Amino acid sequence: MPHHDSPVPSPHDADWWRQAVVYQVYPRSFADSDGDGIGDIPGVTSRLPYLADLGVDAVWLSPFYPSQLADGGYDVDDYRDVDPRLGTLDDFDAMVAEAERLGLKIMVDIVPNHSSDQHVWFREALAAAPGSAARERYVFRDGRGEDGELPPTDWPSSFGGPAWTRVPDGQWYLHLYAPEQPDFNWDNPEVREDFHDTLRFWSDRGVAGFRVDVAHGLSKDLRAPLRDLGDQRSYQPAALPVDGSHPLWDRDAVHEIYRGWRQVFDAYDPPRFAVAEAWVRASRRAAYASATGLGQAFNFDFLGAPLAAAGMYATIDSALADARRTGATSTWVLSNHDVVRHVSRYALPGDSTKHDIEAWLLTDGRDPVPDLPAGVRRARAAALLMLALPGSAYVYQGEELGLPEVADLDREDLRDPMWVRSGGRVKGRDGCRVPLPWAGEGTSFGFGPGGSWLPQPADWGRYAAEVQRGDEESFLELYREALRLRRTLVTDEELEWIGSREQTRQGLLHFSRTGCWHVVSNFSGEALPLPQGEVLLSSGPLTGDELPPWTTAWLRTGTVSGR
Ligand code: NOJ
Repeated sequence: MPHHDSPVPSPHDADWWRQAVVYQVYPRSFADSDGDGIGDIPGVTSRLPYLADLGVDAVWLSPFYPSQLADGGYDVDDYRDVDPRLGTLDDFDAMVAEAERLGLKIMVDIVPNHSSDQHVWFREALAAAPGSAARERYVFRDGRGEDGELPPTDWPSSFGGPAWTRVPDGQWYLHLYAPEQPDFNWDNPEVREDFHDTLRFWSDRGVAGFRVDVAHGLSKDLRAPLRDLGDQRSYQPAALPVDGSHPLWDRDAVHEIYRGWRQVFDAYDPPRFAVAEAWVRASRRAAYASATGLGQAFNFDFLGAPLAAAGMYATIDSALADARRTGATSTWVLSNHDVVRHVSRYALPGDSTKHDIEAWLLTDGRDPVPDLPAGVRRARAAALLMLALPGSAYVYQGEELGLPEVADLDREDLRDPMWVRSGGRVKGRDGCRVPLPWAGEGTSFGFGPGGSWLPQPADWGRYAAEVQRGDEESFLELYREALRLRRTLVTDEELEWIGSREQTRQGLLHFSRTGCWHVVSNFSGEALPLPQGEVLLSSGPLTGDELPPWTTAWLRTGTVSGR
């Protein structure tokens, strides 16, 4: 863990990730160096000093590979290159060198479940005959019905519609996402070898770790005859079986693939790190995070939990127990490029479900009217809680600026395949991907010298990094100060619960780290007594010895016994 003995992590520290703060960059929306309205790699490089100053440990880049952008870059044409609109491999190397100079690690996104339909292998597969070796790298099958006119199974695409598309010679290919994202056949050793080469390609270029997209999807039951899903057609984690028996998701055999990856990672010094994006049941997460597997797995329960003390207590406690069982550390996420930004989520009524949030987006964010000041207050309180928890915190670009969701993008501007494939029932994820504001003014608020590929709201400038820097009350300064303190305060991976059950019921969450660093959150509508101690930082103004509603404070105090 980087912060134990020295503030500067050693380049050979194998455990750097255990309590790292990882900043997610969505490259096309981060910083544009050449004015084409699309963020790029030199843009990222130019802003690395900002990220070092913010105090993060690592930067994870969402896909920057050549892509036709059918799914925002998660449709990869070539796994070992940079999209020419985003730069070159030399630009990538320059970014890694600058990161190294600043003491930052670089992580990249690997998309192994599917390529794009422009990948050379898929083009070869289309040109080849049914049954050929080229088709065996993907999942091609004959259809059902008299002339094979019906898809081979009832499997749905995660973006809506069927998971099969027919090609001119009559066969169908599998795509669990958009038709432009054909699924690989991971039973094929050629696919496995090729991904090992890709992992080595980026590791050799100095990449410290990987975020593994759809990590729970690679292994599928492709034995003939393929099974229909029937009533197992929901892909939500809660709907998946606990025993790995689903034909498509979270099958035990997937871990065999990651054991192979682990061998690749461990050939490096320090070993390369990976975090799984696996939408699985909590009890099945540990296998992805094991030391013989990827090493860490995203835990999205925290992101999905309502801001209530009892629920948060249970979510945190079970995540920590899971992490202890595997020897990994837990991950904490409030936002990413796939969900509505949490300032806006917390501005909606407290019991809003995922479904309510989607329905709200369809009203262009008008119904219910979000209570933004409340959302901001809650988001600040949640951030100070997250940044105090043992494990890794993943911060999504713009979250440190307190950006809200852009919920009123015009229908014509939407790019997310979810919008079209759901037939307009789901608005999709563009509203959290609007290019960042860096400056208070200018054509794209400092995003770049030109415009921005998704329109920015007229008031975007007030959130700009330059506007917030130096303003003690700002979101940015809250994150900066929290990350600065975290570097000095985090010395171990332990957490001790302090608050009594009665206090939790009243809305207070209270724990200590290392005995004397106390963290208290008031997730109720009433002020609660503030425990004694020196206030190190608070998410909002404190009034005397009270902790106001929706506020988190970090305190230095004496050791108190646990619950
Ligand atoms: C998860 C990624 O985070 C998301 O953006 C993408 O659409 C799907 N995987 C498919 O690659």
